[in-house]
Amino acid sequence: MRLDKLLANLKYGTRNEIKKMIKNKIIMVNGNIVNDSSLHVDEENDNITVNGKKVNYRENIYLMLNKPKGYISATFDNYHKTVIDLIAREDRIYNIFPCGRLDIDTEGLLILTNDGKFAHKLMHPKKEVSKTYYAEVEKTLTNNDISLFSSGLEILAGNNKSYKTKKVILQIITGNSCYVTISEGKFHQVKRMFNKVNNKVIYLKRIKIGSLKLDDELKPGEYKELSESEIKLLFDNQYKLEEYK
Ligand code: URA
Repeated sequence: MRLDKLLANLKYGTRNEIKKMIKNKIIMVNGNIVNDSSLHVDEENDNITVNGKKVNYRENIYLMLNKPKGYISATFDNYHKTVIDLIAREDRIYNIFPCGRLDIDTEGLLILTNDGKFAHKLMHPKKEVSKTYYAEVEKTLTNNDISLFSSGLEILAGNNKSYKTKKVILQIITGNSCYVTISEGKFHQVKRMFNKVNNKVIYLKRIKIGSLKLDDELKPGEYKELSESEIKLLFDNQYKLEEYK
């Protein structure tokens, strides 16, 4: 691939800006200063540096973020900080976006990628990738709540139409805390289901997607790149709704 195209794809600048960087002799390939922006490079194997910093080229990138409160799951917003603000420049250049949404006040596991096909597979309701949340609620949970969640509840979906939820597994931890495992992802689904049974979520954190748990080494706001085996875990128990263990 042409060096200027590669660097432009990675958002180092426009082609003209990259030309200027080359004039300023800050770009090197395999230890040699580059003088020509049309130079062809092997993006996988050549050692390319800008200002002495290595350029890491990957087509796709998959990140696990422990989303803190106060950030919205979008790439851009006029009023709020977005989850992209938590990502370092060297990872942001891949044009990443969040796979699905957590509410502004929800914490926990959020996957970010630049791979559209992967995101579609992870988020599409027909793919039935389960998600588990840890929730704290206002009123004491009951066995009746467990059976109501299991048989499905009529809630308002994102389009404001009434929607009957699929089976949801509610596991009570203590009187007011629980795990909730769902296979869909309707707008505010967990909060709306608790509202429907006259309760209210006061704390919500996603802790698992598929068989992949949130890495407990990640503090709120921290993220890491997923390994291939972790990516596989996301789809490991597809179409199976299982209790959180
Ligand atoms: N359900 C909700 O109500 N909020 C979230 O952020 C995720 C699931």
